[in-house]
Amino acid sequence: MDKIKDYIESNKERFLDELFELISIPSVSAKQEHKKDLRKTAELLKNHFVKLGLNNCEIHETKGHPIVYADKIIDKTLPTILIYGHYDVQPIDPIELWDQDPFKPYIKKTSIHPEGAIFARGACDDKGQMFMHLKAIEIMVNSDQLPCNVKLMIEGEEEVGSDNLELFVKNNREKLSNDIILVSDTGMISKTIPSITTGLRGLSYMEVEITGPNRDLHSGHYGGTVANPINVLSKMIESLHDSNNKITIPGFYDNVIEMSFSERERLNSAPFEIKDFKNSIGLKKEHGEIGYTTIERQSIRPSLDVNGIWGGYTGQGAKTVLPSKAHAKISMRLVPGQNWKRINKLFTKHIKKIAPKSVYVNVIEHHGGQPYVAPIDTIGFKAASKAYLDVFGLEPIPTRDGGSIPIIALFEQELKSKTILMGFGLDTDAIHSPNEHFGLSNFFNGIETITKFHYHFRNLFKD
Ligand code: BES
Ligand code: MN
Ligand code: MN
Repeated sequence: MDKIKDYIESNKERFLDELFELISIPSVSAKQEHKKDLRKTAELLKNHFVKLGLNNCEIHETKGHPIVYADKIIDKTLPTILIYGHYDVQPIDPIELWDQDPFKPYIKKTSIHPEGAIFARGACDDKGQMFMHLKAIEIMVNSDQLPCNVKLMIEGEEEVGSDNLELFVKNNREKLSNDIILVSDTGMISKTIPSITTGLRGLSYMEVEITGPNRDLHSGHYGGTVANPINVLSKMIESLHDSNNKITIPGFYDNVIEMSFSERERLNSAPFEIKDFKNSIGLKKEHGEIGYTTIERQSIRPSLDVNGIWGGYTGQGAKTVLPSKAHAKISMRLVPGQNWKRINKLFTKHIKKIAPKSVYVNVIEHHGGQPYVAPIDTIGFKAASKAYLDVFGLEPIPTRDGGSIPIIALFEQELKSKTILMGFGLDTDAIHSPNEHFGLSNFFNGIETITKFHYHFRNLFKD
């Protein structure tokens, strides 16, 4: 089937031009000012679906950003693959750290991507990865016929919690029925070592607001007589980890499923160099829960981190002020056994308990989601393994990722189907960071692997 390689080779430039057009639209879901850009992106995708000859191409309106859907049912007796991805992207700040305009994609060589990588917000997460599926479908449609039925559902609110997609899925179980869900929104071990993500962490995202006096005060006149909300909040945050770096919220670890020794061994046998890990992010020393390796800390253990903290005077020079308020956004990554709604409650209760009487506390719940674990003894996993073997010459290694895609657990609950996470990004691709990029070979190999998956899935499904 070198037809696939040939097709990619002779259409490379156009694939990139089309992807660049898609990436150039600043579809930042978190910012209201980009609402029109999200619609524009949805429309562009719908046009791609129409051009691919798909049916039922539609833009589904939601309370937030639209969902784009299309399908092609060629034969009801064939298996159906539901493809999910997201067209929204993360905000670009801090803008000053980008080498070029985040929405003017360009190609640059890097030491990890000597053939070149596409630099732009969304190049990898998830426009570049999602677009591989459109091109895989194009290849199959133009070479002969789709081997499987396909349904595509691309949303515009993944980066802000997928609230409206949740409703869409619950209301459209029949329309979305499938034999396997395919998603490219995760990573692989390295450019030459393929892996399939078999686990994602869940998420609980909270915000804490501490109020002291009813207005900002003169820090000389009042300093020493009033609880300073920033001092208080810092102390509270500090107390959320003990000396072993375990999280101190009572009940937090209650239902955490501990992995067996052999499972941990397998996890730790994946290629991983602590030296490279540290170097790639400029660290002197790693950190984390005592008793676990970095791979384990990143995937099978929960974590708690402050994502942002603010209050008081942060402008130029000095201003003597005792602030009225202090705020922090705190996220917890969760693992199998934990329930994000329960964790939200435990967090709120604990924060209220540890706050001193000298301040008022307000806890706000943001989005959350359940962790996900995928079995590896399914035909979906086998089909994916064969596809990677064809393209990379190696069987993929099952890994667990530390990130979250909350909707995946909901798919399982509502649609009763498993998801195969075929991600082609690298940890060094700087998703969510300045200078996000996606390797050209990752992009083209991804298209090829996805195409192969469809053929293998059909063949294994028959047996
Ligand atoms: N694609 C990422 C998730 C991801 C990245 C998983 C790398 C595994 C490896 C996704 O777009 C994302 O950023 N998810 C958010 C959660 C969401 C609710 C904002 C995350 O993990 O922070
Ligand atoms: Mn993503
Ligand atoms: Mn993301």
